[in-house]
Amino acid sequence: MKGIILAGGLGTRLYPLTYATNKHLLPVYDRPMVFYPIQTLVNAGIKEIMIVVGGPHAGHFISVLKNGKDLGIKHLEFAYQEAIEFNGKKIEGGISHALSLAEDFADGEPITVILGDNTTDADIKKEVTKFKNGAQVFLKKVPDPNRYGVPTFDKKDKKKIIDIVEKPKEPKSDFAVVGLYMYDGKVFEYLRNVKPSVRGEMEITDLNNYYLKQGQLDWSELKGFWTDAGTFDSLFLANKYYAEKKL
Ligand code: DAU
Repeated sequence: MKGIILAGGLGTRLYPLTYATNKHLLPVYDRPMVFYPIQTLVNAGIKEIMIVVGGPHAGHFISVLKNGKDLGIKHLEFAYQEAIEFNGKKIEGGISHALSLAEDFADGEPITVILGDNTTDADIKKEVTKFKNGAQVFLKKVPDPNRYGVPTFDKKDKKKIIDIVEKPKEPKSDFAVVGLYMYDGKVFEYLRNVKPSVRGEMEITDLNNYYLKQGQLDWSELKGFWTDAGTFDSLFLANKYYAEKKL
């Protein structure tokens, strides 16, 4: 199993904090944000990692992580996601677009993918060891599902996901699909079927729905604390949780 951390994008939601450095290098209590997804992978035994970076401060990752040895990484690679042109504007290509850049690195092996602004203290070693094929997503109950990818469950079989909707106005459940996914070797072939959404981005939710339609999407509930840290409120929440945990 190889690990991929998606840390591209421009971090515009956190302006002015991200004028001078990359969002994923901002502090979450005593460590840069990206240390958290790295730790999740390394703790699960995944030590070959690619980080997809982007934006004007991508070079800062090297200064902070170097070759990753101090964090328990055996092999660290980077890919650079370029912004794309959409309706005359430069935008981020989307999470699925960032993932497609890791095809050569993955080399047909199963992968665990984490979004660079997702932090959790959950232990996913069991799921990583068990994973064989298809795709696996993790769900977490949240008070504000409309900010996330949200699963719709079958009315009769309450454990069966029938659809995932990205940032729904009227969420059909109070679960978020967290930014942590496992995919088999077919993922890059499936990614070629993901078309840009109305906002011009290739959505990770479309990839997950593609697996779902093939009957190849499994899920489990993520145990432990989880939050993204990509907005002022969630960044504050992450800082507060990890500070209180250590103090
Ligand atoms: O946090 C979980 C949520 O993350 C999921 O529930 C959603 O389904 C998923 O779409 C995503 O939603 P966000 O709106 O929070 O994604 P955001 O645009 O903030 O991107 C999250 C991370 O993904 C970001 O920190 C870096 C990476 N990324 C994002 C984009 C748009 C890239 O590497 N490249 C990109 O082009």
